[in-house]
Amino acid sequence: MADSQVSLGLNSRGQRGYTSRLPGLYRLSFSERLQLVGGVAGLSEDEIDTLRGVYSTGPEESAIENALGMVPLPLGIGTNLIVNGRDVLVPMVTEEPSVVAGFSNGARLVRQSGGVIASCDPPEMIGQIQLYDVLDPEETQQRIEQAEGDLLAVANATMPGMVARGGGARTLQVRRVATMQGTMLVVHLVIDVRDAMGANVVNTAAEAVGDALATRVADRVGVRILTNLATHRLARAHCSLPVSSLGTAEHEGGAIAQGIVSACAWADADPYRAATHNKGIMNGIDAVALATGNDWRAIEAGAHAWAAHGGHYAALTRWQIAQDDQLVGEIELPLAVGTRGSAIRAHAVARVAQHIMRVNTSGELAEIMAAVGLVQNLAALRALAAEGIQRGHMKLHARQIARAAALEGAEDMRSHAQHGEMPADTEDREPC
Ligand code: MEV
Repeated sequence: MADSQVSLGLNSRGQRGYTSRLPGLYRLSFSERLQLVGGVAGLSEDEIDTLRGVYSTGPEESAIENALGMVPLPLGIGTNLIVNGRDVLVPMVTEEPSVVAGFSNGARLVRQSGGVIASCDPPEMIGQIQLYDVLDPEETQQRIEQAEGDLLAVANATMPGMVARGGGARTLQVRRVATMQGTMLVVHLVIDVRDAMGANVVNTAAEAVGDALATRVADRVGVRILTNLATHRLARAHCSLPVSSLGTAEHEGGAIAQGIVSACAWADADPYRAATHNKGIMNGIDAVALATGNDWRAIEAGAHAWAAHGGHYAALTRWQIAQDDQLVGEIELPLAVGTRGSAIRAHAVARVAQHIMRVNTSGELAEIMAAVGLVQNLAALRALAAEGIQRGHMKLHARQIARAAALEGAEDMRSHAQHGEMPADTEDREPC
């Protein structure tokens, strides 16, 4: 028995009883970790090789604890996009076959009318500081507001680099939040994070300001963390195209445009539909977030919270037919994205993706992502309003079936895939 097996607690067959208790796993080398988890989970040599795969150098460098492999996702290029008069090639990372094709199709339609116009707010994030067991909310609020200058200086002292780049703490606002435990005060620390996503900067500053507040107020200082509902960092995009341009061989453009408008009205009124409508928008936005090394969970959280800002969960886009027979679409959502910061520096593909897009600032990236969300939505609604999404979707999905068939050696699946059809047993795999 090899020494390493003994030290990992594996038996002579390289196995060990199944348990989730693996103390010190994070201290092991990649190979030892693979050997241990493989032995505990009862993996075959083939399965261990799959994890080791071609990415054997990756996990060693991974920033996460207990890395055991990498899960590669395809990086595609969305074409045809024009934003603010500039052509943009869009790197998109997604496993869903129809996302890049749908986006490129939508962007081609919008391109004929000059493309998408987009804008965004300054890159301001909000750090939240919770005060609870507040005895006199009025008095505490006044005291905090009077100390605003000092507290902003405390925040800025935590981020000299950001301040040197023109960013830094801008304002402080105190909100009263009625909770089951009485009124809490929530201090919002607004920070311009320039081209960073800003989470680390904001959290560090929020903690420092929380400590400073603790010495000034009698109440208890609780949680200090950024909010992903980045309402000071909204991005917007709009486009306008003749309804006639939406037509397909089988469907007239006017009817499709009306279908798009009514689908949007439905999503606005019905959260069940809005969730799917917005998921389609995020198909594009998340794909760019992944390609550019941005935190797509933060973006998702902000987008869905923003979708409810009117009082109920609704569509993130609006589509209308204007009097001149133009279909006009718009989107607005928080986009807390960065073009610099340690996560992006450590992510070689993200740097290449930025180069492909020719973006430098976080604002440029946010504008492009808003445009991508709008176009992705147009493509989905156009297909839904015409033939439905399955025909086009399954043509692309057939490739995935063919790949699965090649891996599984399943002849019947391969023949279905060659004909662009979906065998009955693949229905559950539909990636919507
Ligand atoms: C599938 O990933 C996305 C769609 O469901 C979006 C929509 O329904 O609007 C097609």
